[in-house]
Amino acid sequence: MTKEIYLTGITTTGTPHIGNYVGAIRPGIAASKDPKKKNYYFLADFHALAKSGDPDQISKSTLEIAAAWMALGLDTEHATFYRQSDIPEITELTWVLTSMTAKGLMNRAHSYKAAVQANVESGNKDPDKGITMALYSYPILMAADILMFKSTKVPVGRDQKQHVEMARDMAQRFNHHYGDIFVLPEPVIDDHTAVLAGLDGRKMSKSYNNTIPLFAAEKPLRKLIMKIKTNSLEPGEPKETEGSTIFDIFKAFATPGETAEVEKLYAEGIAWGEMKQKLFEYINEHIKPARDEYERLIADPAIVEAELVKGAERAREIAVPYMATIRDAIGIRKLG
Ligand code: TRP
Repeated sequence: MTKEIYLTGITTTGTPHIGNYVGAIRPGIAASKDPKKKNYYFLADFHALAKSGDPDQISKSTLEIAAAWMALGLDTEHATFYRQSDIPEITELTWVLTSMTAKGLMNRAHSYKAAVQANVESGNKDPDKGITMALYSYPILMAADILMFKSTKVPVGRDQKQHVEMARDMAQRFNHHYGDIFVLPEPVIDDHTAVLAGLDGRKMSKSYNNTIPLFAAEKPLRKLIMKIKTNSLEPGEPKETEGSTIFDIFKAFATPGETAEVEKLYAEGIAWGEMKQKLFEYINEHIKPARDEYERLIADPAIVEAELVKGAERAREIAVPYMATIRDAIGIRKLG
């Protein structure tokens, strides 16, 4: 049997927070150590361009996200870890796919439709106001990411499932017309990974500005944890673990035994202040070794750059010959 090929893309906008860690980084790193799978992890910096026009933000975020994955122990010997923009074949393939993708398919993308809807709701005369071609064609670049490495499985959140299905549609259409070139990918949705709430109780997300950065230094980390929303129960009054953001975050980091102990403390009526202090101490301890390594990498970006250059070389060993096959299939050929 051929190995399953897993591919994970991370858009380089923002600083990694504990919600990203629990939902994507931790399971991704565990998967990178599984010898039964071939894994690709990449920084989707061209995708970031569709969301941010701030050059410093994009480059800072690329460094922070790469350093976070490395500091947390991504196995870059076994997995291929690279930056999308270092693989020119991906952008080349994007144009090839663009040439045979129905505009109607892109009209149906949820992300594009949501942007149009927002314009309509805010009373804009132009429903496409502020919508770039990069946002509109976002699923085509994503399809190129996926198809370039013959990915069979693409772990994504629910919001990205449709994009992976579109990549599959594009691959099918291409194969039907030009012959059997692409492997058909499948989305993988893990319903078991935790989705953490943020400081205000809504889903932790940079768009809500309610995140706890994964590698916040000790002082800001404590300050943020102290800000987590709780109810007004007094010390001594028994508290529910269900719906408690502090409890959910604790549980996402702790062992089942430690979690059971905290459940007991809730039932006994631990004061919120005391519980927050406990959560802070626990996360701080847990994260400290990786945080030290992260800070070392941020202070010396050349180490991160070298890792990405190595990853890009390995990725291009696949992409360059494959792109030559694709060019030949579509009739972009040498003339003699
Ligand atoms: N669009 C994805 C996101 O915003 C990131 C991404 C880019 C991606 N290319 C990909 C994910 C390819 C999986 C496969 O989360």
